[in-house]
Amino acid sequence: MSIVFKRNIVQSKNKLKHKSKVPHIVKYMGSKRELIDFLAESINEIYEGEPICDLFAGTSILSGALGHSTRIYSNDIQAYSAVFSKTYLGNFKWDEYPDLINTIVIKAQKHIDYVNNCYPDLKFDYNLQLDLNEFNVLEQRQQDLIYLDFEDVDYHLFIKNYSGTYWSYEQCLWIDAIRVVAEEYSNTPIYYPILSSLMFAMAYNAQSTGHYAQYRDANNVASMNDIIIYRCKEILPYFEKKLKELIEFTDKNTLKHVVTTLDYKDCLDELPRGTLVYADPPYTFVHYSRFYHALETLVKYDYPNLLFKGRYRTDRHQSPFCKRTEVVGAFEDLFERIRNKNSKLLLSYSNTGMISLEKILNIANKTLGANYIVSTKTVDYTHSTMGRSEDKSREVKEYLIIAKPL
Ligand SMILES: C[S@@+](CC[C@H](N)C(=O)[O-])C[C@H]1O[C@@H](n2cnc3c(N)ncnc32)[C@H](O)[C@@H]1O
Repeated sequence: MSIVFKRNIVQSKNKLKHKSKVPHIVKYMGSKRELIDFLAESINEIYEGEPICDLFAGTSILSGALGHSTRIYSNDIQAYSAVFSKTYLGNFKWDEYPDLINTIVIKAQKHIDYVNNCYPDLKFDYNLQLDLNEFNVLEQRQQDLIYLDFEDVDYHLFIKNYSGTYWSYEQCLWIDAIRVVAEEYSNTPIYYPILSSLMFAMAYNAQSTGHYAQYRDANNVASMNDIIIYRCKEILPYFEKKLKELIEFTDKNTLKHVVTTLDYKDCLDELPRGTLVYADPPYTFVHYSRFYHALETLVKYDYPNLLFKGRYRTDRHQSPFCKRTEVVGAFEDLFERIRNKNSKLLLSYSNTGMISLEKILNIANKTLGANYIVSTKTVDYTHSTMGRSEDKSREVKEYLIIAKPL
């Protein structure tokens, strides 16, 4: 079956009600934010009251859309994804935190005053009329802070490692400052919306193109001027805006959701039998752990060893779905576990993926066997390439492969 997705879907007689407008947190390659109505409708077509697992949750947008109406198992190998899930799925009693945002700002400012007091010479002014050479000297001076040990400052991961790269020193100072304050709430559910709001602010202040695979160099005046726009942004207003939005969006939620940071095979092995699985694996050769390493580091805040110009952490997950030699085996492992759990599966993939739809269907039919019916839907979709240059978006076909036990 092949259908073309129209934007204003008529709400069907839903068994599951979904929220179409979920506050978004980060720019994310392959996010299904734009397709959330279509996905929720498709889930509803086969849903019969079972729990739902979002196996490769990424931004956890599905948890945001459905987390108020059914029990969700949200999983992704990356730790930041669990923060997004716990933001959308948490059980919040916001009235216990009157004046939360002001309190955070006051505490963060204290950290900033302390660091400024310790290091009064660390001032980098982008408002001066800089020529290209002066600009690059300013950037280099910040990049060189990686050689300073900042021993007087407890939370210095970002000022030390990322100043003058994706963010300016000043932006890194605010990232560290809000991260310190977040830690005070680490035993409460509100820790997660605080961290999510900080990741939102980081995404919209970063001078890179929506991911952290590489920061841009100022090779000419035009690129310098563009980078300066980002250097002059401030973390705080973005943070405050998102936290307000998340406080409004979230509420009490007692549905006993489960959030894990497992490899997809381990997650499937642990799921209750019959769980409906939504799987949206990576479909290009690009590893998420390289694109979003800085988010992982913010969440773990573990002062990792960093390598290369992009300052990547060394313990990056290499997904089998991103490797030509392993992708077939990865799908076989997926379908085999779905069959073992007698689960229904909705699988998203793209016509620009590592293997063709035809090949996936062959693997599905072979691995799931005669006890499953497999069908597909197709959606025409404009997909962001996460670049700021010519090829900003691309017309792609998104497939939804639906497998149901008889
Ligand atoms: C296409 S993205 C999912 C996007 C998500 N559906 C959304 O709307 O934001 C694929 C996700 O798979 C995760 N991933 C890659 N390999 C994995 C593995 N072996 N086990 C679990 N998650 C994995 C990545 O971290 C990434 O977040």
